[in-house]
Amino acid sequence: MDYLKIKGKSALNGTIKISGAKNASLPLIAMTILAKNSVVIKNLPSVADIKTLLKLLSNLGAECQFLDDGVIVDTSSMHETKATYDIVKTMRASILVLGPILARFGHCEVSLPGGCAIGQRPIDLHLKALEQMGANIQIKAGYIEATAPNGLNGCEIIFDKITVTGTANIVMAAALAKGETTIINAAREPEVVQLCEVLHASGVAIEGIGTAVLKIIGTDRSLLEIPEFSIIPDRIEAGTYLCAGAISRSQLTITNTEPNHLGAVIAKLEEMGFELDIEEKSITIHPTETIKPVKIVTQEYPAFPTDMQAQFMALATQAEGVSIIEERLFENRFMHVSELQRMGADISLNGHTATINGKNTLSGTDVMATDLRASSALVLAALIAEGETNVHRIYHLDRGYDSLEKKLQNVGVTVERLKEGL
Ligand code: UD1
Repeated sequence: MDYLKIKGKSALNGTIKISGAKNASLPLIAMTILAKNSVVIKNLPSVADIKTLLKLLSNLGAECQFLDDGVIVDTSSMHETKATYDIVKTMRASILVLGPILARFGHCEVSLPGGCAIGQRPIDLHLKALEQMGANIQIKAGYIEATAPNGLNGCEIIFDKITVTGTANIVMAAALAKGETTIINAAREPEVVQLCEVLHASGVAIEGIGTAVLKIIGTDRSLLEIPEFSIIPDRIEAGTYLCAGAISRSQLTITNTEPNHLGAVIAKLEEMGFELDIEEKSITIHPTETIKPVKIVTQEYPAFPTDMQAQFMALATQAEGVSIIEERLFENRFMHVSELQRMGADISLNGHTATINGKNTLSGTDVMATDLRASSALVLAALIAEGETNVHRIYHLDRGYDSLEKKLQNVGVTVERLKEGL
């Protein structure tokens, strides 16, 4: 197992190029199951979750050919329809194959994902919506067994909660269903928008893209001709590096980004006193003398993303005063708090709300990554800690951050990847 050794107190300076979005890539790779052609995907991030999903598709009989910055996926020879536990347990987003496999083959088995570090994360809304579309769903021996021998039928689906992968799953199922599907209370995340746009470019009629009501006219199991596309930039990676500039009081530029997707994050950085130069595809953050405290509530897009909550908590430890962060999406997404406290942060928790009493002097020590975004908060804290911080269990970081240590080294951070026990 690898860990990162990070030397604190180095000033950052330079430019970081943002990679393609992990959370856009995952549904778009699953979408290739709906294609009759080989699909070329560009600007794919090199992260473990993407490799896991491509391995799952390969296990099902698809062929994946890697390019310099992407992949060609050919699912024409796909024949298996069972996503087994060994893969699903490593990545919950494997559930994204359920809708497309069921829509194409009329049957599918996916292992139930099980628990998760940040909360229960049920998938009941995915299953309920597929049942409404005519699927028969049974849970047997830890597997979801879904059948729809005559295909899925369009219908009206009202999501009780906004679900990102749930919306993506049903959009993909609806693309091959018979007739019109209306999804009410759909997710509006840019990653869902790109999925809809690519399906639209592949000939699927979709109305309401980017709104809470999507109308999709299915092709009645006729496979799609999907044109080449390039993954949108990762807004969470971008936000994380903006926080790296902010916390280390450095001038840092991020390029290959989409500032329009970062509205809530930019607004909070400005509220905290940072000045940002925003261009069409780049953002430069400037250091500020005094960081102001902040109030954050995580919500669905376009509000403040839960995937940036941990990073802002690390940043809030450097604010002069009391910051309040309320987590509304996941019940257990404060695992980074105890590790930040071990580094010297003054944070108290009350239910879903964290109170950060800044400003704190942080000290380097051994800390443990617990989930993807919690890990990046520890890396941010390490940038300004006195001495060295060893961040263990970085397989969490590798799931979603492309070339993290290389990108940090390029802007002046002393960081190395080492093997445990050596
Ligand atoms: C996606 C993102 C993840 C992000 C999250 C919220 C991917 C691969 N992952 O996760 O990074 O943190 O959105 O922005 O895109 N829920 C149910 N029943 C369901 C589905 C969801 O109750 O069937 C609840 C969840 O427990 C959670 C909320 O709905 O409280 C939102 O979850 P959801 O949007 O589905 O998250 P993911 O799609 O898993």
